[in-house]
Amino acid sequence: MILDARELAATFDLEKLTPEFYANPYPTYRALRETEPVKRLPNGSYFLTRYDDLVAAYKNTKAFSSDKKKEFSPKYGASLLYEHHTTSLVFNDPPAHTRVRRLIMGALSPRAIAGMEPDLIRLVDHLLDAIAAKGKGKVDLIDDFAAAIPIEVIGNLLDVPQDEREPLRDWSLAILGALEPVIGPDAFARGNKAVEDFLSYLEGLVARRRARPGNPDRDVLTRLIQGEDNGERLTEKELLHNCIFLLNAGHETTTNLIGNGLVALSNHAAEKRRLIEDPSLVKTAVEEMLRFESSNQLGNRMTVEPLELGGIAMPPGTPVTLCIGAANRDPAQFPDPERFDVGRTPNRHLAFGTGAHQCAGMALARLEGAIAISRFLARFPDYALAGAPVRGGRVRFRGFLNVPCAVS
Ligand code: HEM
Repeated sequence: MILDARELAATFDLEKLTPEFYANPYPTYRALRETEPVKRLPNGSYFLTRYDDLVAAYKNTKAFSSDKKKEFSPKYGASLLYEHHTTSLVFNDPPAHTRVRRLIMGALSPRAIAGMEPDLIRLVDHLLDAIAAKGKGKVDLIDDFAAAIPIEVIGNLLDVPQDEREPLRDWSLAILGALEPVIGPDAFARGNKAVEDFLSYLEGLVARRRARPGNPDRDVLTRLIQGEDNGERLTEKELLHNCIFLLNAGHETTTNLIGNGLVALSNHAAEKRRLIEDPSLVKTAVEEMLRFESSNQLGNRMTVEPLELGGIAMPPGTPVTLCIGAANRDPAQFPDPERFDVGRTPNRHLAFGTGAHQCAGMALARLEGAIAISRFLARFPDYALAGAPVRGGRVRFRGFLNVPCAVS
């Protein structure tokens, strides 16, 4: 049954999504933007889809709080999952947020990130060699490439020993999976157990690093343990949970950027050819991949003072979802927004959010995206999908679990 825009928007409920929505949410996002851009959902929260409304919410940290203690308390109870999410910088307001962010930004300096480039190129080329050796028809773009890159990059960032990295991806997927709008007891149990295992692993790693510090210019964990010259330090609890957050924040999102990007190129043959013929477009191409299939589609805030948005009055304590996926296709900001254009300029997308909480790892994500995409295309210009890509089935983190691919 095909619903018209008004019906699609009227029946939209983030807690009751359909398979058609998971496959392609953009017609629904468009319908919402056009007919109910500030949509009240059955649970009393609001769902925003217009670019300008998202920017207004992101920038107004006085009225839109990121502190999730109230919201997560009924969802997670007194669990480790609750402790983890409510200690992560992304779910806090000043002053806790400002302190932790300063320490993390200091550790993710542009110099530190630029210094990672040679290792990143070596890693990507090594993966490409392994793909070539596997041969035709046996390649999975996610397992063999997109997911393998961030796990190594973040592992290097915190200097996690190579043979201890294997569980990181599953812990990360389990913890982030528990952030979906609705979760069952299994997803909760998996997320909670992942926090428990991750904490116990990190306690050991931090103890070893305290005993034998690394080079703070290269090793973010040593940097976070040592704190700032002015004596600013993270507490042990803040240190452990924010390391988990860093490991998680950089995994699935960057995997999805690379996976979504390669699938989008494959589905848009002329744009793929354009990028192969002019590799200098890789930077704008990566921005377009971030806009067109944003790996993180939803953000959340809670109002803490009375306000009005799109003519709708919201009392304090109203949960608001910021739909990045919809804002990034708003025609008021992006001409011809449904078109995938690897040369799009300007492209002020919101894939990394904006304002005080804007992604602290965006320079690293961009570097990973540019190196992965450009080197993959140079090595396998004729790559082709070899079966239907399998979606992750999530609304917040949009990406693929598997993408069968043939290379020659
Ligand atoms: C394509 C990849 C990525 C995407 C799409 C992405 C997206 C985002 C978004 C939308 C936010 C803002 C959340 C909010 O305001 O509610 C955010 C925050 C954050 N991201 Fe990323 N991210 C990516 C990669 C990374 C990487 C590689 C790292 C670190 C190594 C990272 C670390 C962080 C941190 C620490 C925050 C919290 C900042 C704060 O609250 O002040 N991200 N990210």
